[in-house]
Formats: sequence, structure tokens, C-alpha cells
Amino acid sequence: MEAYYRERAAVYDEFYQVSRRQDDLVALRSWVVERVQNSTILEVAAGTGYWTEVAAPAAKTITATDCNPETLAIAAQRSLGSHVSLIVADAYQLPEFPDTFSAGMAMLWWSHVHRQRRQEFLSHFASRLAPGALILMFDQFYIEGLSSPISRRDEWNNLYTERVLPNGKTFEIVKNYPTDDEIFETFSDLCEHVEIARLREFWTVSARLRR
Ligand SMILES: C[S@@+](CC[C@H](N)C(=O)[O-])C[C@H]1O[C@@H](n2cnc3c(N)ncnc32)[C@H](O)[C@@H]1O
Repeated sequence: MEAYYRERAAVYDEFYQVSRRQDDLVALRSWVVERVQNSTILEVAAGTGYWTEVAAPAAKTITATDCNPETLAIAAQRSLGSHVSLIVADAYQLPEFPDTFSAGMAMLWWSHVHRQRRQEFLSHFASRLAPGALILMFDQFYIEGLSSPISRRDEWNNLYTERVLPNGKTFEIVKNYPTDDEIFETFSDLCEHVEIARLREFWTVSARLRR
């Protein structure tokens, strides 16, 4: 996963140029902006900072993290503002921060979390957020003929797919497609007001950490 996205960094944003997803992206941008007004945001797996840039004008501060300096270097070229900081950090081993955050964002990340690590990730993420903080995530669901084919399933029922980069390198990455019930169940352990919606290609979840 880490190596794949490091090597894909330079071409990653082509994902956002695909014409069939433009309507969803418009809706997702509004969905994010409406929810992060005046928030102090911790973002994990921020990648090239596409969603950091969307949230930046509305947020009070954003601490955007990713394990790959290569993706954050692309994020750094965006006009993010001095209230946004970019930090290299593993989503499962986040640094201690001086303050907790009022919102947590992780876009296109959940599909890459192994099923057996979902609770570990979520409780670790929550440990850096304030009680009552808003968690926002979205990811893709599987569309026959459009999604990259599933290459295998492991003993935990994680799904994998093979990706080939323009440089010819091939990677196998975890890419899970949870049902709404699964998302609801996982988030309900720590959160209330769990709201799930589906667009054409993406599901969204917003939830409030229990106080
Ligand atoms: C699908 S991309 C999503 C990037 C960005 N959130 C977006 O929506 O455009 C997944 C990101 O997860 C990052 N990543 C992979 N493993 C990670 C880890 N263990 N900790 C933090 N980031 C990780 C990759 O570097 C990549 O930028």
C-alpha cells in the first residue's frame, strides 16, 4: 500500500479527472465543506491533498498526515494556507498533538484498512480527536466492469486487487468494499449519529464520537 501510493504520487490526481465521477465529486466537495466549517481537522492518509484543499477555506486549521512524503510534497504545491500543516505520519501510529481535534477526515482510506485492523485504526484515530468530534470518511464501492477486478480474498475476508502503474510496476493492494451494515456496525462502537449515504460511485459516512 505505502509503496504503491508512493510510486503513484505523480499521477494520482488523474483519479479526479475521470469524467464519469465529476457529478459525485461535486456532491462530495459540498458534503465536506458543509460539515467542516470552523473545525480543527486531523486528516489521515491525506495523499496529494485534494480533500485538504477542498476543506481548507472552511476549516479553522487542518493537520494533514500521510505516510508518504512524496504525496505530501504534491499537497504542498496547493494553495492551502498557513492554517494547514502537512506531517508525515503512519495512520496507525499518529504522533501526540498538543490539542485534540474537532473533526477527523480520512478520504478513500477505509477500503485500504484490513478488516481485522478497522477497530484498531478507528480507536487510535479517535484518541487524537475531542469527545463529540465529527468523523468524515468516504470511499468507493464495487462496480462491476469499472472497479479494478478482485484478485483474491484472504482468511479475514479482505479483498485484494492488482494495480499496474504507468512505469509498468505491479502492486497488489487491499481494497475492501464494506456494506452499509458493516460500516454502521464498525462506527457504532465509538460513535453516535452514524449517517451513511451512497452516491453513484462512493459511499459516505459521517459520525460523532461519543462524549
Ligand atoms: C487512496 S489514497 C487517498 C489519498 C487522499 N485521501 C485522497 O482522497 O485523494 C491512500 C493514501 O493512503 C496513504 N497511506 C497508505 N498507507 C498509509 C499508512 N499506513 N498511514 C498513512 N497513510 C497511508 C497513501 O500514501 C495514500 O496517499
